[in-house]
Amino acid sequence: MFGIKRKQHSSPTDLTIDARKIEFSLVQDMKDNRYWHSNDPVTTHFFNALQSTFPEGERYFIDSARDARNKIGKENLSSTLQSQIDMFIRQEAYHGQHHEDWNQALTAQGYDKIEKYSEELKSIRLWAKKNIPAETRLSITSAAEHFTASMAHLFIYKRPDFIRGASESFQQVLLYHALEEVEHKAVCFDLYTASKGGYKLRMLGLVFSSINLMKHVSKRHIYLLKQDGQWTLSNRLKAMNLIWGPKGIAIQLLPYILMYTKPNFHPWETDERAMLRSSFQDIFDQLDAKIASPACT
Ligand SMILES: [Fe+2]
Ligand SMILES: [Fe+2]
Repeated sequence: MFGIKRKQHSSPTDLTIDARKIEFSLVQDMKDNRYWHSNDPVTTHFFNALQSTFPEGERYFIDSARDARNKIGKENLSSTLQSQIDMFIRQEAYHGQHHEDWNQALTAQGYDKIEKYSEELKSIRLWAKKNIPAETRLSITSAAEHFTASMAHLFIYKRPDFIRGASESFQQVLLYHALEEVEHKAVCFDLYTASKGGYKLRMLGLVFSSINLMKHVSKRHIYLLKQDGQWTLSNRLKAMNLIWGPKGIAIQLLPYILMYTKPNFHPWETDERAMLRSSFQDIFDQLDAKIASPACT
């Protein structure tokens, strides 16, 4: 299943990109329950590992979009895309803050290397900003945005238990992030197209993003489990199964990820917004009660 299929290769007319201001109590939630996902260290630390790459990743995405936009010149972009880029930057800046809080929750639990890993990513980001052309960095960002948008697909159609098994604050932050990633999923792709980026570079961006994500997430996942003395044989097998098993994340997402390789692909071929809300309406009701948000269409 690939969500509600659309024929258009452009944003839906009813698209609203909101940068929602919400507070989450991640530090306290993790303090109350170290294994906040199903009381299971393997799944909990997978999500901890994944998200710990986000603060610097999101800054990289913002840098590349901003630099590519400035290189093309605002005057050469449609007013819709210009305002979507502004809202993309604002959403990712808020996400960066939440993911930073999540990292602080991990540091508070004694996982000291998380900060060091973030410093390493920061050095790479700053090096890339100086040495890699904006269009190339944008091709990596556009592919990475396809990965982050795929989380909604995973939660709705493949693994709703990833949401249902999490404790309250983590349910909320995972869903909030999944929804906003869907809302802005085409922004960098459309900017890449506007910058006349080609297919080959787009595919190189996908390959680089995939390898990079796997490398950084698995390094952190192993570290977090080792720190807890949980890097046992049975947990190694469980971790392998979580990613590569029949219901594993990589296997479940592969068809969705491969859609990106179509020469005429566009992120809005599928629209997950309504299904995401209706699948987890009870949690969105909690989120909606917390929100104050500026919006653009
Ligand atoms: Fe994000
Ligand atoms: Fe994003």
